[in-house]
Amino acid sequence: MKKLNIEFQELPYAVEEAMNRLRINIKFCGKNTRKILITSSMPNEGKSSVAINLWKMLAEAGFPAVLGDVDLRKSVIKDRHHIKDADKLPDLGYFLSGQSEMEDVIYETQVENAYIVPCMNLLENPSALLEDARFAELLDKLAETYRYVIIDSPPLGSVADAAQIASLCDGAALVVRAGETSRSLIKQSFQQLDQVGCTLLGVILNRAQTTGRAYNTTASMANTIASTAMVMALTAKRLQPPATAPRQNNSLWI
Ligand SMILES: Nc1ncnc2c1ncn2[C@@H]1O[C@H](COP(=O)(O)OP(=O)(O)OP(=O)(O)O)[C@@H](O)[C@H]1O
Ligand SMILES: [Mg+2]
Repeated sequence: MKKLNIEFQELPYAVEEAMNRLRINIKFCGKNTRKILITSSMPNEGKSSVAINLWKMLAEAGFPAVLGDVDLRKSVIKDRHHIKDADKLPDLGYFLSGQSEMEDVIYETQVENAYIVPCMNLLENPSALLEDARFAELLDKLAETYRYVIIDSPPLGSVADAAQIASLCDGAALVVRAGETSRSLIKQSFQQLDQVGCTLLGVILNRAQTTGRAYNTTASMANTIASTAMVMALTAKRLQPPATAPRQNNSLWI
């Protein structure tokens, strides 16, 4: 298996802690929740950041985890995480279009237990490829081999791709950018997931303002968190709706 070196940014303490809570919540989603879609209603809410950090943390906690970069139109992984010679390597698009075999597009990384199916060559219209049986086969094979398949995707509100991917997943976590995404848009996303039969695992509130009070941090770091707009907390919600919540009224538990 070929190896990719992926550069990770160090996370601020509050974000690291919130991601850790999310990782633990994911663990409680049950053993049949393997293919997990990370999506959102709009662009720029934090899907890729959440997906990549969750994937890395699951791997570091000892769970074999693979990241499927299925944002085929707009993936940022090779630039943001400085993957060398990325354009020359077979990726998800190569596999979906039949130019590569499955095993050629699954890479190990320098992080033990962290595998990736990257997207390094962008496609203008991948919808038909995502509807092809090859894509479903890939996800099933990954879920057989790895404990978690974390899937980064485009937003639900922009193109049909995310709903198509959701239809093949065991569940979806919806990233919501605090103070930006409207309730009606969030409801629409719930409905879209429901329509394609994808269980909503929960909502991840990203970029929520923190008070600066963080357990076990130094005062100066807590102040930085409070005052720097770039450093926002990411809060994982409980990842199952309460049993009493009516399925169609998910907004009750946002
Ligand atoms: N909690 C956070 N605190 C600070 N910056 C963040 C946070 N989450 C994401 N960002 C930044 O916001 C920008 C958008 O994030 P990201 O690329 O993860 O969003 P996305 O939902 O994947 O976007 P797209 O819809 O374009 O794929 C990036 O520059 C990222 O570094
Ligand atoms: Mg993204």
